[in-house]
Amino acid sequence: MAMKVTVIGLGYLGATHAVAMSKIGHTVIGIEPNQAKVDSLNSGRAGFFEPGLDEELAAQLASGRLSFRTSHDESSKDAEIHFICVGTPQLEGSLAADTSYLHSAIRDLAPYLSSDAVVVGKSTVPVGTAALLTEELNKLTGFEANLAWNPEFLREGTALEDSLSPDRLVVGVTSEHSEKKLREVFAPMIFAGVPFIVTDLATAELVKAAANAFLATKISFINAMAEIAEVSGADASQLATAIGYDERIGNKFLRNGVGFGGGCLPKDIRALMARAEELGVGESVAYLKEIDKINIRRRQRVLNMLTEELGTLEGKAVLVLGAAFKPDSDDVRDSPALEIALLLKKAGAIVMVHDPIALPGVNKKHPELATEQDLLKSFSSMDAVVLATEWQDYRQLDPSTIVGINNKFIIDGRNVLDVVKWQSAGFKVLALGKTIKN
Ligand code: UDX
Repeated sequence: MAMKVTVIGLGYLGATHAVAMSKIGHTVIGIEPNQAKVDSLNSGRAGFFEPGLDEELAAQLASGRLSFRTSHDESSKDAEIHFICVGTPQLEGSLAADTSYLHSAIRDLAPYLSSDAVVVGKSTVPVGTAALLTEELNKLTGFEANLAWNPEFLREGTALEDSLSPDRLVVGVTSEHSEKKLREVFAPMIFAGVPFIVTDLATAELVKAAANAFLATKISFINAMAEIAEVSGADASQLATAIGYDERIGNKFLRNGVGFGGGCLPKDIRALMARAEELGVGESVAYLKEIDKINIRRRQRVLNMLTEELGTLEGKAVLVLGAAFKPDSDDVRDSPALEIALLLKKAGAIVMVHDPIALPGVNKKHPELATEQDLLKSFSSMDAVVLATEWQDYRQLDPSTIVGINNKFIIDGRNVLDVVKWQSAGFKVLALGKTIKN
């Protein structure tokens, strides 16, 4: 049955979730204090690149079920569910997550909350946060509020698809009433066969942290093998294929290269370490320090390879292909590609950055970096090229069409290039995790 819901916080998670909830038939009010963001959403633009999202946003606005506003008003009072989707970024100068946006969302919501409505947190949080928020909400409202936790596992680039057909739905609840309401709001997905896991608050919070820690560990595991492959003549990509055939290991998330980045994996493993430390079990996830270090070392490895090839980085023109942390996204948060460009600049290289869609973000955050929107032009006068984000544009590029380059040398930082094709076009090709004969 269609319900009325609010979605609080309209970043990547909230905007996508609001559209998805409207698409499955609910009436949705999206709430976000940033007026510019609300205006943009009301005009059908999410404000970030996500394939298919703007089109679906426009369709849902046209359906009349979806609207956005800057704060709660009377219309929030009869909503049956309030989804909280605010960000929990890494705290400045600490590994821990900043949960202050959650507390302000709760404070803003309390005057409009009815006693049978359910508040559902979706943000990624340190385990124990939901219990604290429940206490706070009870104090603010004067009644036993229903607070549940429903972590979101969406990936950028496939966010809408992931929201509409998730691998699983996990709900942490403290009452039958909350479970009933959550079963109702997710009914179309449950009907379609999505596994629905009902648990306590702490487990629901921890599921998300654990999933991201596991994914980060898989990537750093294969990158650690890549470090061994590089000094022993082995091939880490073939190694990944070979171990991936074992169903217990699986072949996903075993692509070696310049490593993981983005708004989730790096901050979530750090927040888990910080929370475990607070709880007195820091040693249980101390290995994540190594996972983080292996990941960061891959970026430096690219600089070392360039220095070895060019003699020095000082004054050398280097093109970095890619700025987004992964393809099909314009997100440059904690991006390995962008970090490589910045490290190169710091080392004295003349850096040029290309990305099919993420350049506006780069220009805004790092005006000191030169950028070029035209892919073929970006090769002009370069002494070296680093492929750092595996966009289709780079995989499909015919290297024989590249002209005006100073030195035909490319490092494949994501192991996606057709080496023979690039070598036939006169390029010397090196890659991470393997030795290539040139
Ligand atoms: C991640 C989780 O996958 C998602 O479930 C969670 O909700 C949010 O965090 P996302 O940040 O969108 O999603 O990116 P993801 O696809 O997981 O990739 C993360 C990073 O790992 C990217 O930088 C990607 O390039 C890198 N990666 C991924 C690898 O280096 N190797 C791989 O094999 C896979």
